[in-house]
Amino acid sequence: MTPIQAPKGTFDILPPDAERRSILESHARRILGAAGYQRIETPAFEATELFARGVGEATDIVQKEMYTFDDGGGRSLTLRPEGTAPVCRAYVEHGMHKLPQPVKFWYQSSFFRAEAPQRGRYRQFWQIGAEAIGAAGPAADAELIVLLAELLEAMLVKGLRLRIASLGNPETRARYREQLTAYLRAHEDALSLDVRGRIDLNPLRAFDATDPGTRAVMQDAPKLLDALTPEDAEHFAEVRGLLDVAGLRYEIDPTLVRGLDYYTRTVFEFTSDALGAQSGVGGGGRYDRLIEQLGGPPTPGSGWAAGVERILLAGASPPVAPDPVDLFVALVRRGSTSATAAGDGAATRAAFLLAHEARRAGLSAQLELADRSLKGQLKQADRLGARYVAIVNDETQASLKDMAGGEQADVPIPTVIPTILRGSRLV
Ligand code: HAM
Repeated sequence: MTPIQAPKGTFDILPPDAERRSILESHARRILGAAGYQRIETPAFEATELFARGVGEATDIVQKEMYTFDDGGGRSLTLRPEGTAPVCRAYVEHGMHKLPQPVKFWYQSSFFRAEAPQRGRYRQFWQIGAEAIGAAGPAADAELIVLLAELLEAMLVKGLRLRIASLGNPETRARYREQLTAYLRAHEDALSLDVRGRIDLNPLRAFDATDPGTRAVMQDAPKLLDALTPEDAEHFAEVRGLLDVAGLRYEIDPTLVRGLDYYTRTVFEFTSDALGAQSGVGGGGRYDRLIEQLGGPPTPGSGWAAGVERILLAGASPPVAPDPVDLFVALVRRGSTSATAAGDGAATRAAFLLAHEARRAGLSAQLELADRSLKGQLKQADRLGARYVAIVNDETQASLKDMAGGEQADVPIPTVIPTILRGSRLV
């Protein structure tokens, strides 16, 4: 029969990779926890309406990338493509606006987008994210950016670059869009066919074009940053000032485009030149209208999410040493070279109990489970780097071997754990 494989764009997390992810998670817990962010996890699927309203009907994510299905009762559900709308939904649903503000969350969860898979881009992927809800000021934005920088540094992510911009408020943005559309129409002849065809649909995309004609036109195009209201411009200036105080280097990129519609004011993105085409390691921004759009009270918010796979691809986290094994419990029955569980029941029970009690005493202990010969068991203990091997002969006696020194002594089983705990030499 043909073996079944994991679906396209998904992957297995095998033990060495799982270890690196745990390290990333512990850095996130330490760095974000120290700043008052608390863990939250939301369901893997939500009402489709949440993302249509939250992320935006016109975005690529909602238009093309969602895994949407019927729950069998006529309700449309969607595997979450991102975490901000769900966290805001939870904030509203649990009345968290009544708590002292801001409420600060972090998460490490998997997300789903029907994208064309390539290196660093998958259909199920993981993000570490942080959201500060109920704080309107620039300090919340700057704090979030600095925390993400610290996390990426802790994971030794190479070739990092931080770009920031401000999108102002939706009204300014609508006015600016009209102004940009008019400018593009006035220079239509010099634009690529592709850009020309999308002037009304998405004029901002013209900033991403690579052909020389469009690029020359875009040099002098009006920039949103120049159209901000005085309040929005002031907010952005303060965010920059705080990043300067923290000594974090950034570039102002007036053409920074994010793929989600909920942003207001600050937006930012970290890229790594170690990643190739999918260079975005993490990004986010402020979303002051989102909670209201989801039916909650007017509440400002700000946050980011970083791709776990991309952090691990671009990071240089050191190889993970396997956990040390204090005790390997080997089992030999009289008159036999192999240890079969069905054989000497009393010795098997004694060995099982010894491993169990060793673990309860705080030691790491592994019991032979593969029915190897004694020689094979000693080899396995050696592969695991076990400090001691207890070869259980019968229900009362074991030969305890110090693997580093090579000494071996016959001892009563109850003395094995105290001996290892004392770390004493055997002979
Ligand atoms: P995003 O930029 O769509 O933002 O995703 C954040 C990060 O997730 C990206 O920078 C990238 O590292 C990773 N990522 C996205 N799509 C994929 C994929 N298909 N495969 C692998 N990694 C991927 C958000 O999701 C917003 N919720 C961030 C946010 C939080 N804004 C405010 N609060």
